[in-house]
Amino acid sequence: MERKKMTVPEIQAKAARGEKLLMLTSYDYPLALLADRAGIDILLVGDSVGMTTLGYETTLPVTMDEMIHHAKAVRRGVQYALCIGDMPFMSYQTSIAEAVYNAGRFLKEASMEAVKLEGGVEMAETVRAIVNTGIPVMGHIGLTPQSINRLGGFKTQGRDAATAKQLLDDAAALEQAGAFAVLLEAIPDRVAQLIYERAGIPIIGIGAGPHCHGQLLIVHDLLGLFEKFTPRFAKRYANLSEVIGKAFADYKQEVEAGTFPGPEHCWTIKDDELAKLKAML
Ligand code: KIV
Repeated sequence: MERKKMTVPEIQAKAARGEKLLMLTSYDYPLALLADRAGIDILLVGDSVGMTTLGYETTLPVTMDEMIHHAKAVRRGVQYALCIGDMPFMSYQTSIAEAVYNAGRFLKEASMEAVKLEGGVEMAETVRAIVNTGIPVMGHIGLTPQSINRLGGFKTQGRDAATAKQLLDDAAALEQAGAFAVLLEAIPDRVAQLIYERAGIPIIGIGAGPHCHGQLLIVHDLLGLFEKFTPRFAKRYANLSEVIGKAFADYKQEVEAGTFPGPEHCWTIKDDELAKLKAML
């Protein structure tokens, strides 16, 4: 069957058919190319780029310009996946006008097809304004890393009835504001299930259990490339840190031993040309 370009309506239709949505973060051209080739439906250029790729301790320092730089690289590698730009801290919280402007930058400068932002009820008006300009928005509730100072760290959310009820209200408010999907991060699986059962739009989980329309993983967690910490929900499908570490060690050993480069890595010059060269010296 011919593969379709994923659009917001295609994503919603796939979820409505009961087929699982596949979502990964992506920050650069080579991994975007491989993820797209593997059949991932949605690539999120997440502000997690700050931690996985830029070496920041949190996502808070990430700027719009950094996001645009990475989003452009990802876009160049993608043919089929829906590309979403993640709005970094302080790009949408200060005013609705600034939020709309920065959401627009993702589409104009990096050819993203949607944006994601953190927050529930309190962000509903902002979501509505962005959607009204024609830009699809994915909501993000639960553990919202841009609020770690208020949350007191990267902690699971919605573990008591009152905070879980707030998550249900947040998801409903985002849907009413026109969000095309909602991402749930680090919340109990049975709370996610209640949201999923009530939602009319796709619910995607990262650390929210199996009762969702789709799943998201941070690509560096999946590949075993981020070693600082691994959240409980992050399943490692490969250990690239080990593979890369061994490649670097082998390179070091061969250069030091003089076995790299070998004849197959060298260009040569004909004997007579070399003789002429030497005669000139
Ligand atoms: O930036 C990101 O990758 C995210 C996910 C953790 C949901 O927002």
